[in-house]
Amino acid sequence: MTSQIKKICCIGAGYVGGPTMAVLADRCKDIKVTLVDIDKKRINAWNDKDLSKLPVFEPGLKEIIKRNRNKNLFFSTDIANTIKEADMIFISVNTPTKTSGFGAGYASDLKWVESSARQVAEYSSGHTIVVEKSTVPVRTAELIQNILSESEENSFISNIKKSFSVLSSPEFLAEGTAINDLENPDRVLIGGEDNNAMRSLSGIYERWIPANKILFTNVWSSELSKLTANAFLAQRLSSINAISALCEATGAEIKEVSNAIGADKRIGKKFLDAGPGFGGSCFQKDILNLVYLCQYYGLEKISRYWEHVLIVNNWQKERIASLVVEKLFGTVTNKKIAMFGFAFKANTNDTRESPSISIAKDLLENGANLMINDPQVLPYQIEKELCKKESKIFSEKEGSWSFNSNLNECVKDADALIILTAWDEYKEINFEKFSKLMRKPSWVFDTRKIISKNSLKGTGIKFWQVGMGECSSL
Ligand code: NAD
Ligand code: UDX
Repeated sequence: MTSQIKKICCIGAGYVGGPTMAVLADRCKDIKVTLVDIDKKRINAWNDKDLSKLPVFEPGLKEIIKRNRNKNLFFSTDIANTIKEADMIFISVNTPTKTSGFGAGYASDLKWVESSARQVAEYSSGHTIVVEKSTVPVRTAELIQNILSESEENSFISNIKKSFSVLSSPEFLAEGTAINDLENPDRVLIGGEDNNAMRSLSGIYERWIPANKILFTNVWSSELSKLTANAFLAQRLSSINAISALCEATGAEIKEVSNAIGADKRIGKKFLDAGPGFGGSCFQKDILNLVYLCQYYGLEKISRYWEHVLIVNNWQKERIASLVVEKLFGTVTNKKIAMFGFAFKANTNDTRESPSISIAKDLLENGANLMINDPQVLPYQIEKELCKKESKIFSEKEGSWSFNSNLNECVKDADALIILTAWDEYKEINFEKFSKLMRKPSWVFDTRKIISKNSLKGTGIKFWQVGMGECSSL
């Protein structure tokens, strides 16, 4: 028999938990959905009356929160009671790469998944369906199941009945388009063994997603499909970025090459934009995880195959930083450089693994004074990522950075402008005006291919674009 789900708890109110549960609550008004988090500040921000202070910026999210918050959508730090009441619990906590201990630099750190499972084991009551939503190594559901089984056994002794069904339902949303991805997903994956629990979960998704888009698999296939999807997507980006360098060397144009190959239906048009290297909290972490898993199972050559996707990605970021230095007469020491974009992609305030971080660090190491702009990222995030305090007075000896929300002030007296995130506001730049503000010879480096060559014509600005190289006919 399928359980009637009335109360859902989501552990982890981050970039996945927040939007996912907001859409679920929006589509299932009869279900009470509560997100819990150990981070009080984050929960306070989700509850802030001023919707511009939500901790996650995602187009369309504000409106959904406004419609549903404190009706059937709640944000709380009361983990114990929320778990106790829930019929279904989503685990949507962070699973970053381990920074120390066995597997450091490769394996996922599962301590937050484990602590979530322990919280569920301790506080739940009755029958609870536990859904693993975080991206995890294959067989993590076993870890959760083992912790919960212990508590099932103890519950018989203590007479407080507890039982659990563990499912895997990884999330495929991409930041910046999360709401649309959640409302119209290509597919939803449900991995498990307990048919009733699987039907209860699919019954929720079916309220707004066609049944034929819901795929049922065993738990391990579900877990591995998530890692594989991200590895394939990232591999595609490293492939097109590798070809972008070859285009620059040979005079071929990356846009023409991607259009030509994308016209083949087997390849497809999407996800073929060369750029400064992929960022975001998922691709690198999930490939490292895959590399580690392959090593663990003795598949050394396969592990090296996937690792190369990351090697090419890091190379793309480094080559862009070094190209900027080279074009500026081999030195950026004490030169002002404007950087437009710090988020890892447009339409998000997320900076995790953003290519802007390593490019900024390389330029700072070379003594540059960076003036950074981003419409959604706040200076404290940049400070955290660069491990360097903002300095309003540019340093004479070593590189420094400063944030400025005014684009004109960013480029005033700058030798170069590097465009790193494809925000709409950067597509409309008036380069005639910029050319008067910048120091000559001035450069624009467009790592996202969002600037048309025509907009620079007659300005005297030198122009470099990824996959095109230096444009000579300006
Ligand atoms: P996040 O860091 O934004 O959010 C995770 C939240 O979990 C944090 O706020 C943290 O405080 C909270 N948390 C950790 N342990 C907790 C506990 N024991 N109890 C209560 N709260 C706890 O992470 P995210 O970006 O939302 O990612 C979550 C998972 O989803 C990861 O496994 C990630 O790989 C996966 N994923 C992320 C994306 C994405 O676009 N960000 C997409 C698909 C899948
Ligand atoms: C990714 C997956 O797409 C998503 O399915 C998964 O759930 C989480 O990881 P996300 O990292 O949020 O999503 O964004 P995505 O659109 O995949 O972009 C990742 C990086 O690749 C960004 O830095 C983006 O700028 C870059 N990218 C993407 C390109 O450089 N070119 C492209 O054509 C597409």
